[in-house]
This record gives sequence, structure tokens and C-alpha cells, in this order.
Amino acid sequence: MKLIRVVFLVVLFSSYGLIAETEKKVMDLQTCDYPALYNFGDSNSDTGGMAAAFFPMIAPCGDTYFHRPAGRGSDGRLIIDFIAEHLGLPLLSPYLDSVGTNFHHGANFATGGATIRRQNESWFRLVTASDRNRLPRPQDFSKALYTFDIGQNDLAAGFRTMSMKKLRATIPDIINQFSIQIRDLYSKGARTFWIHNTGPIGCLPVATIKVQNPKPGYLDEHGCIRGQNHRAREFNKKLKHSVHHLRAELSEAAITYVDMYRGKYDLIRNAKEQGFEDPFKICCGFHGIGFDVWCGNKATVKDIEVYAGSCAKPSAVISWDGVHYSEAANSWIASQIVNGSLSDPPIPITRACHRKN
Ligand SMILES: *[C@@H]1O[C@H](CO)[C@@H](O)[C@H](O)[C@H]1NC(C)=O
Ligand SMILES: *[C@@H]1O[C@H](CO)[C@@H](O)[C@H](O)[C@H]1NC(C)=O
Repeated sequence: MKLIRVVFLVVLFSSYGLIAETEKKVMDLQTCDYPALYNFGDSNSDTGGMAAAFFPMIAPCGDTYFHRPAGRGSDGRLIIDFIAEHLGLPLLSPYLDSVGTNFHHGANFATGGATIRRQNESWFRLVTASDRNRLPRPQDFSKALYTFDIGQNDLAAGFRTMSMKKLRATIPDIINQFSIQIRDLYSKGARTFWIHNTGPIGCLPVATIKVQNPKPGYLDEHGCIRGQNHRAREFNKKLKHSVHHLRAELSEAAITYVDMYRGKYDLIRNAKEQGFEDPFKICCGFHGIGFDVWCGNKATVKDIEVYAGSCAKPSAVISWDGVHYSEAANSWIASQIVNGSLSDPPIPITRACHRKN
């Protein structure tokens, strides 16, 4: 018994020592000086691409922070905005809304609905070829930070249009297209990549709200759709695997894999303790069996005219519109992410330009 305790203590102390040492090594790394931030993603990080290209985000989107819709599917800032602020960079302009914007500090290639699989014409190439005065200097390209937040729509489209079996078979192809994009950016000089895995899509209130009389086990203990989250985790596992491959292949790349899934799921799981209401509450929009009134729209539901406006206290809800997170939730998630506690390797974003061999 005593021996076990001694062994336990030795293991405990030496692992403390190890953690302290790793932390010291991380803190010895110099802070990176990113001149620019390029983001690739879907509506989770869209700062206006969708609004500029297709249809505008309408009020009350943006009410909390921008006091105008600001192109974002939220009441305020997105995770990518909090990341830009944390790095001391201006909030990103969407690339598609490029009239009069400059990209000295980067650009946002995210668009609501973007999928990895469709994005193969690479807007990045267009940027490098377009008006050079608005771009960072070529030597800055290699110092810039390239962030990715994508995959959710590939999965969502899959859930809508194909069987789980078929979707499962397409995941390797989705991941492969993603790797092609990373290699392509690397070949153009990009070196620092910060990759968010996909979130717990099975917890999106717009889907859970439509679940009627679920079979035992259909929902998990927190109320999320188990099968969908399982697919998301499967996607993430393959993504992580491909990141490890890319690290081995691209000898000068510093690639960080960020477990965004865990950040979001932890928030949903601990909503109450973190100061939020029911994690499945939708702040803006009405959804149910057979109807969807999206945020900012009017409709007649069961003979009643309704307007989907903002809830009274967006800062207390996690889900802004049933799909996208509120500014308060984004802020919470971003604060978990930037210090590296959800990253592989566990390095804060301010030091992520260093390759860890
Ligand atoms: C995407 O790439 C595939 C094959 O590489 C090609 O067949 C397809 O036309 C491309 N799509 C777009 C929109 O460029
Ligand atoms: C990172 O920040 C979060 C939120 O402030 C905190 O809970 C966590 O302990 C921090 N982790 C590290 C490794 O500093």
C-alpha cells in the first residue's frame, strides 16, 4: 500500500515537473509578429462574405457590438474577431466585399455555406493576383497567420442529402481537399497554420428543437444528437491525422490543430455554471416541426404573424440564431482557444509560428 502511494507521488511529482518544464519551454518561445491574418472558413467565421456576395445579414444581427448587421451571423463578434483583437490586428474585411477595403492586415475568405469540397478555386490565388497595393508585402505572406474553421457545412450538407454510410465514405475526400489547400498555401509561402476542428454539430438548437419522441440513446446526456456528433468527431479524428501528416511533409510549417469541438461542447455542457441559460435556447428565430422563421424575418406560423427579433438578453444565450453562436459564447470559446489549452501542440496563438518538432 505504502509502496503504491510512493510510486503514485513520484509519478505525480515528475508529471508536475514535466508540465512545468513544457510550460517554461513554451514561454521561452518568442512572441510571433504576425503582420496579417488570413482566414478560410464557413459562416462560423464569415465577417461579411456571404452578405456581400449573396444576401445581406439583416437586423437584429450585429446589435450587441456593431449596432448594424456587419455581415456576421451573430449579435456581435465572431471567434475570428476575438482572435484578431487578441493579436492586435484589425477585424478582418471579407474578401468578397473588396471594394475599397485593403488587405494589408489580411483577408477573410470565409463565406456562409462554404464547404471544403467546393472551395477548390482558391480565392487566395485571386488575391495574390489582384491589386498588389492593397496586399501585405510578399515577405509578409510567410509571416502571416492562416486560420481555418471549416467542415461543418460539409457535414451538414451530408446529413441533409446522404445516408450516414455514404457521408462516412466522403469524409476522407473532404479531408484530402483540405490538405490540398494547405499544401497550396505552403507552396505560396504560408508557414503558420491554425486549424480549428469542427464543432458539435449535433448540439445545434435548430436541429435538436425538431426532435420528437427520440428513441432511447438518440440524444446524449446533454441533449445533443449523438449520431451527428459522432460523425463530427470522426471527421476531427481524420483531420488531426492529416495535420500530423502535413507536419511531417511540410518541413517548415508550424501547424496547430485546435480542438474547437471540445471548447464548444464544454460550454454547452457547463452552460449554467458559465452564466448562460438553457444551451438550446435560440435568441433570434422561431423553429419547430414544419417551420423555420430565421432571425430578422417575418412569417405566418399557424395563422399568427410573427417577427423573429432578438431575445431580451443575448449575452445570456449560447445560440444566436439556432446555427451560429452569440457574441458572448464566441468570446468565451475564443478565450479557451487563444492560450493553447485546446491545441496540439499546446502553444498559445501568440507563439504558434514556432514549429515544434
Ligand atoms: C474543382 O476541382 C475539380 C477537380 O479538381 C474540377 O473538376 C471542378 O471543375 C473544380 N470546380 C471548380 C468550381 O473550380
Ligand atoms: C486558458 O484560458 C482558459 C479561460 O480563461 C482557462 O480556463 C484555462 O485554464 C487556460 N489554460 C491555460 C493552459 O492557461
